[in-house]
Amino acid sequence: MTEVASPATTFDERIASRHARVGIVGLGYAGLPLAMTFAEAGFDVTGLDVNEERVRAVQERRSYLVDVPVERYGGLEERLHATTAYEAVADLDALTICVPTPLSKTRSPDLSYIVSAAESVATNMRDGQLIVLQSTTHPGTTEEIVLPTLERSGGRVGQDFFLGYAPERVDPGNKHYSVKTTPKLVAGVTAECLRRTQLLYSQIVETIIPCSSPMVAETAKLHENTFRAVNIALANELALMCDRLGISAWEVIEAASTKPFGFLPHYPGPGLGGDCIPVVPHFLAWRLREYGYSAQLIDAAHEINASMPLYVVQKISDALNDAGRPIKGTRLLLLGMAYKADVHDTRESPSLEVMRQLLQRGGEISYCDPWVPQLMLDGQLHESVEWTPEQVRQADCVVMLTQHRQFLEQPFWNEAKLIVDTRNVVPPGANVRHI
Ligand SMILES: NC(=O)c1ccc[n+]([C@@H]2O[C@H](COP(=O)([O-])OP(=O)(O)OC[C@H]3O[C@@H](n4cnc5c(N)ncnc54)[C@H](O)[C@@H]3O)[C@@H](O)[C@H]2O)c1
Repeated sequence: MTEVASPATTFDERIASRHARVGIVGLGYAGLPLAMTFAEAGFDVTGLDVNEERVRAVQERRSYLVDVPVERYGGLEERLHATTAYEAVADLDALTICVPTPLSKTRSPDLSYIVSAAESVATNMRDGQLIVLQSTTHPGTTEEIVLPTLERSGGRVGQDFFLGYAPERVDPGNKHYSVKTTPKLVAGVTAECLRRTQLLYSQIVETIIPCSSPMVAETAKLHENTFRAVNIALANELALMCDRLGISAWEVIEAASTKPFGFLPHYPGPGLGGDCIPVVPHFLAWRLREYGYSAQLIDAAHEINASMPLYVVQKISDALNDAGRPIKGTRLLLLGMAYKADVHDTRESPSLEVMRQLLQRGGEISYCDPWVPQLMLDGQLHESVEWTPEQVRQADCVVMLTQHRQFLEQPFWNEAKLIVDTRNVVPPGANVRHI
């Protein structure tokens, strides 16, 4: 580890006076809003990314994420920098690592981005720095993977450098909760690591919740997302059961929701999407296999949620069949390719699987998504059509997959010959099937 001349002020003083230099490794959905929030609080922020295009976008104050419109750059003046050069690490007081943690095809966590980022940080560290892992990951990552990597720099944790874990809980597109107002879990490898992590985040987040160890915070994050995945699976299973019973799952949920305690409504849909909810429960299940434990509920939830796109295709096929048409050669207009309303993100979106299945069956597929002008599916480029009554009229069947505001504010449902609605946003009518 290289030593540089110690600044005259202490770490605590620099953080509390907002004169500290903070780095964010990974300028994505999690990292960029965090970088902005630190810069808005007065810190001197450096975003580090291996993606040159993203770095250029930040340097040129361009927007590429829904939570960071161009206007948000205003007033930051020279406080927000971006670079691909890891040498910048040496100038920082604290940095957080917000790199991706995808799953491999066999559903094991791919920690290569964390390892690579930690290695690059380790070769550029200096004494006294706080490093906080923020990526979602399996229990044990901070202490078993990041810590030994950083220790290769020659420094000792809790003395020469400090290591914490503070999971990202951001919900892209959420108008009510931001980085500032979403309570933050923090943990440290030592008591001093925790204290410093807490001090850093208390500058930008209103509520800080310390955890006794990084593993508790890592597992809490996984449990939050698993809670969502399992409850969505329960709602999806209800939809499958209500279909057999010939009643509406939505009406059942609405009725059950009138109980003022002990019930939290979740809703069915075409499946799970985003890079968190479908992925994160498997981090927990994967790690527990090492302990001889099989996470049965997580596996069952996955099976149900992953089956939903095919169920939707079956519903489309049934609806067309009743109208005397096969999928092959039929014009289908899919509404919404993003995984949830009012975001650009198509990662793991179930709409993609619905589209793939319909294309394989010979459907003439077009899609409309004001948030996703283009998309690549299996090597083929598709472009969104405009949201107009004409487009709706031309389709033999319209499939509501993601309930973007634009569709709801300008509904053309009366123009449609047939609608299959997976979100219960189209009013009942002779031409409508709800899942
Ligand atoms: N997207 C969300 O809504 C969300 C919510 C909660 C938690 N998270 C978690 O946050 C983490 C980051 O997710 P994201 O959605 O921001 O990912 P992202 O793909 O949007 O962004 C990650 C960025 O990291 C960069 N990167 C990759 N390897 C790097 C390296 N070695 N050095 C520097 N930069 C590198 C990529 O170029 C990319 O710009 C993940 O663990 C994810 O699970 C995401």
